[in-house]
Amino acid sequence: MNVVLFGPPGAGKGTQAERLAAKFAFLHLSSGDVLRAERKSGTELGARVAGYMDSGALVPDEIIVEVILARVLKADSKAGVLLDGFPRTLPQARQLDEALVGAGSRLDLVLSIVVPDELIVERITGRRMCPSTGKIYHVKYLPPKQAGICDETGEELIQRKDDTEEVVKQRLAAYHEQTEPLEVYYRQQGLLVEVDGTRDIGAVAQDMGAIVERHLGRENS
Ligand code: AP5
Repeated sequence: MNVVLFGPPGAGKGTQAERLAAKFAFLHLSSGDVLRAERKSGTELGARVAGYMDSGALVPDEIIVEVILARVLKADSKAGVLLDGFPRTLPQARQLDEALVGAGSRLDLVLSIVVPDELIVERITGRRMCPSTGKIYHVKYLPPKQAGICDETGEELIQRKDDTEEVVKQRLAAYHEQTEPLEVYYRQQGLLVEVDGTRDIGAVAQDMGAIVERHLGRENS
């Protein structure tokens, strides 16, 4: 089963992906994490995407499509792939469809986490993450046991460079302009299911888990 997690920056895609992947054994593929890893390793690709990411703009389609589709097609997971942050434009969505069909597969479900812009800035500016595992925390909504320290690795938590109020506004603008039209694309295909992402993390996770279970039930019946 192949699932896309859809929603604005800070909606909770990464947070919920971690939980869904653990529950259903999906392979979690986050386009943002892939790009940040490239930057951390100092690759040429990392250098090419840095300016876009730091300003809150989308990386050009031709770059991201090549990078992510190669990973989707190589994914070795019986349960399926959970895409987080990709696709984000219509050309990306179309190329994903084509690649999956070419591989004898398809997209089964698009889970859209609905959160209004007013809540996004607080969520994003309060986000902290583990520098080595990428585990996500929030200073208020999901604090670590010891302030500023990862529960699992004991490392000092970091803040993403693009998690400032100024850049968040650009990311939201890019989302509304380039990504939101995908809702119509997936709704027309009957794949889009919306989840109210304004509730606490556990409640959202429960809903999303139940939706995936229902789809799996249908697939197996
Ligand atoms: P990316 O890393 O994908 O960033 P994003 O889409 O902006 O999403 P975020 O990671 O900011 O948010 P999220 O929804 O995962 O929220 P999270 O779970 O962390 O992309 C970064 C950049 O890379 C882009 O700007 C672009 O330049 C480039 N890029 C990536 N993919 C691309 C593509 N396909 N095409 C072109 N360019 C691309 O939650 C946020 C915070 O809120 C956390 O602190 C969390 O603890 C908290 N939280 C989560 N849920 C709740 C809740 N229910 N209640 C309270 N707090 C919550």
